[in-house]
Amino acid sequence: MKDILTAPFVEEMKETTANMYHWGWDERNGGNISYMLHENEVAEYLDLNHVIRTIPTGFDATDLIGKLFIVTGTGKYFKNVKRDPVNNLGIIRIAQDGTTAELLWGYEDGGKFTSELPAHLMTHMSRRKVNPENRVVMHCHPTHTLAMNFVHELDEAKFTHTLWQMCTECIVVFPDGVGILPWMLCGNNTIGEATAEKMKDFRVVIWALHGIYGVGKDLDEAFGLIETVEKAAQIYMLTCNRPQINTIQNHQLQELAEAFGVNYRKDFLNF
Ligand code: 13P
Ligand code: ZN
Repeated sequence: MKDILTAPFVEEMKETTANMYHWGWDERNGGNISYMLHENEVAEYLDLNHVIRTIPTGFDATDLIGKLFIVTGTGKYFKNVKRDPVNNLGIIRIAQDGTTAELLWGYEDGGKFTSELPAHLMTHMSRRKVNPENRVVMHCHPTHTLAMNFVHELDEAKFTHTLWQMCTECIVVFPDGVGILPWMLCGNNTIGEATAEKMKDFRVVIWALHGIYGVGKDLDEAFGLIETVEKAAQIYMLTCNRPQINTIQNHQLQELAEAFGVNYRKDFLNF
């Protein structure tokens, strides 16, 4: 059996959480990641028959029975994952009852998965119906996106359109736009269900005045999506209180989408 600390998926989690921390997206314990792993990749490092302990999830994830995830721990700091992965990360498998997580590795100090597991697993269930390749759900608190929540109307079409106008490549990276949930209490099944519902149409969902969710087939894709939204929000925040002399026009956004062959939200274009 190989040493799990050398597993590519552990390395990727260490690198991604460190990058997110250094971008200022994950203060203190802010943010969480869940990354679905293939059984055969984990079997090289762990005995899949050895369950360390079981932890109830508090919701039904029947669609994910038998699926494995590496998940950041609740209350854990992204800053510390690289130095101490075994206490800050865990590998869980959804048990046959659909409502229990079997811990196969990690959370060694007695911890457990993120409090946002409902939003993560419910999002995995809903996104995999749209794209079976989806494996990553990422949540964080990016500074400029959050700042923009306070000064821009929280209307999905208007918010998306503003972001598209901030960088030429935005409409190519997130042609499906940005979904927005109103402020809600976090860490429960209700916000999880609402997030998963939005994820039927969007790969990026903003939790108003809280943060953002992004998904992807791998960590890079989810990170890149959030990074692009955050960059656009940063440009918006740098320019929104100054006279705007130039802008990307709607016909140019349309030209871009057509040139890159992306299926964009046409109803989000005309503002
Ligand atoms: P956790 O520490 O439980 O992952 O929560 C962090 C967070 O961002 C809540 O929304
Ligand atoms: Zn959060």
